[in-house]
Amino acid sequence: MAADLSRRLLAWYDGHARALPWRTVGGGRPDPYRVWVSEVMLQQTTVATVVPYFNRFIERWPDVGALARASLDDVLHAWQGLGYYARARNLHACARVVAQEKGGRFPDSEEGLGALPGIGTYTAAAIAAIAFSRRVAAVDGNVARVLARLFAVDDPLPGGGARLRSLARDLVPARRPGDFAQAMMDLGATLCTPSRPDCGRCPWSSACVAGRAGKAEAYPVRRPAKAKPVRRGVAFWTLRADGCLLLRRRPENGLLGGMMEVPSTDWRAGEWTFAEARRQAPATARWRRVPGVVRHTFTHFHLELSVLVGRPKAAATAGVWCRPSRLGDYALPTVMKKVARLVAQSS
Ligand code: ADE
Repeated sequence: MAADLSRRLLAWYDGHARALPWRTVGGGRPDPYRVWVSEVMLQQTTVATVVPYFNRFIERWPDVGALARASLDDVLHAWQGLGYYARARNLHACARVVAQEKGGRFPDSEEGLGALPGIGTYTAAAIAAIAFSRRVAAVDGNVARVLARLFAVDDPLPGGGARLRSLARDLVPARRPGDFAQAMMDLGATLCTPSRPDCGRCPWSSACVAGRAGKAEAYPVRRPAKAKPVRRGVAFWTLRADGCLLLRRRPENGLLGGMMEVPSTDWRAGEWTFAEARRQAPATARWRRVPGVVRHTFTHFHLELSVLVGRPKAAATAGVWCRPSRLGDYALPTVMKKVARLVAQSS
């Protein structure tokens, strides 16, 4: 049964695999460095978004040694727009560990890979299967959906993944486990989609318990999402007489760690009064409110930032002054680009 399922899926993959730059064609062994970069980029990000970032990244840092020699700022800058910047920081840290402590070679087992910075359960399994032909199951959101439908598993996600991982392990073939992992990903991304799955073209349609019952879309069963809280803050667009803008670096650890930002108050649930916000300003100035508000959603909360513009006479607290035309030189997170856009619209 498992052997028949994996044979059918691999035959489908041979005719329908997506051509992606980190893949090899014709059975060649993929480069672990490229597989690792692609898997980290693909955490929380779609293939379509990742492909151009991946190509630029590999051109600039073609191997793990080159990446280990890069500055963190350059890596963060190349990551701009992909979000979840902890990934870029871990990628850089991991490159240094591999280059300096592992002789430039990635560990070839799930356990060894999982001990490296930024490589969790799924990513370790994906790299072990794809780059090292290990017979392990890589279950991400897409793969979980495929399996939940195939076996009509009704343990709710997130949280009910243990059963799916165990079912997945039974399916992985001894030959071509990496292709099998990627075939599952492609099946989930192209046919076994969250809504309106294309069961008619699916190589597993005759075996799929949910599909045969006409209930594919009812799987996976979802635990109701927790509502995200709203946090509020006030950002200070602080201009020097020569037009330079004040930026500061966020603390290394935590949200958007190490990235540059427009200074702001704390981000909290309550609204800010003007007087209260001014006490956290980076300098004394006559602050003018920009019409509108910047909205941005992070993993665990929605943020609403209002923006004040000021031109202080005296020096500001610590930070760097940046010519507005050079903003692109800094690793500015998307939320801060939205702040810049709001100010540009108002002037
Ligand atoms: N999603 C995560 N890893 C992937 C891969 N190697 N190919 C396609 N989609 C993916």
